[in-house]
Amino acid sequence: MKEKILEAIHLTKEFTGAEKELRALGEVSFSIAREEFVCVVGPSGCGKSTLLRLLGGLLRPTAGEVLFEGRALAGPSPRIGFMFQLPNLMPWRSVERNIRLPLELDGTPEAEARAAVKDLVKLVGLTGFEGSLPRELSGGMAQRVALARALAHDPEVLLLDEPFGALDAMTRDRMGAELMRIARDRRKTVVMVTHSIPEAILMADRVLALTSRPGRLRLDLAVGLPRPRREEMTYTKKFGAMAERIRAAIGEAV
Ligand SMILES: Nc1ncnc2c1ncn2[C@@H]1O[C@H](COP(=O)(O)OP(=O)(O)OP(=O)(O)O)[C@@H](O)[C@H]1O
Ligand SMILES: [Mg+2]
Repeated sequence: MKEKILEAIHLTKEFTGAEKELRALGEVSFSIAREEFVCVVGPSGCGKSTLLRLLGGLLRPTAGEVLFEGRALAGPSPRIGFMFQLPNLMPWRSVERNIRLPLELDGTPEAEARAAVKDLVKLVGLTGFEGSLPRELSGGMAQRVALARALAHDPEVLLLDEPFGALDAMTRDRMGAELMRIARDRRKTVVMVTHSIPEAILMADRVLALTSRPGRLRLDLAVGLPRPRREEMTYTKKFGAMAERIRAAIGEAV
């Protein structure tokens, strides 16, 4: 087992609403090894996005803590890249300038930023579209810009919140394959939230299944299929059995 890079320790999050307190996440504990690809599944509203934001230091836990490389995480880090469910691109900025944004914000020297952006555009297959504006892109292309932007600081960890949620099935499959390639080539640790159990099994080394209100970790399943993963694997008995276990753990047909 490789060294632990991220740890959730009794992680709990409560939100104070206008009328009541809401316990979104209740004492979730697990650890993630360097270069591991972990998918998080669970019913809508069970706290997946909340968990991801806690892991990225974008939210503070009510109790418990997140350790990043053994130290308590106190806030966002350039070494942890975050990709939201919607691409959230700046509409007036070109592809190139959207990807460059995080580097501009922390004052990366111009030549270095230009080289990094060029590399990222190529990595996500957008060469030739550097000058395009978000409204000139397809949904899949916009997601790729968001992925490149999350990779701008060359982070060790990528946190992805339903990165393909808004895409059609074919684009989803293609983006999934690209993400697996990037994660392997660049040796990233990935935590990805998805609604799709088959997508989780096909992509992940491990699947974490959460249950609702408060979100609790019900199942931590090692996938154990060889890589590279292929679409045909979804038709095997082993795959079907894993999907069944996850469905049973979540307690609803997803
Ligand atoms: N900022 C907030 N303030 C108050 N309540 C919140 C806030 N963010 C999330 N919640 C509540 O916490 C619970 C978990 O929300 P969260 O967004 O983490 O769920 P999710 O599993 O990502 O759902 P989905 O699959 O629909 O994206 C929900 O009941 C939600 O209403
Ligand atoms: Mg969510």
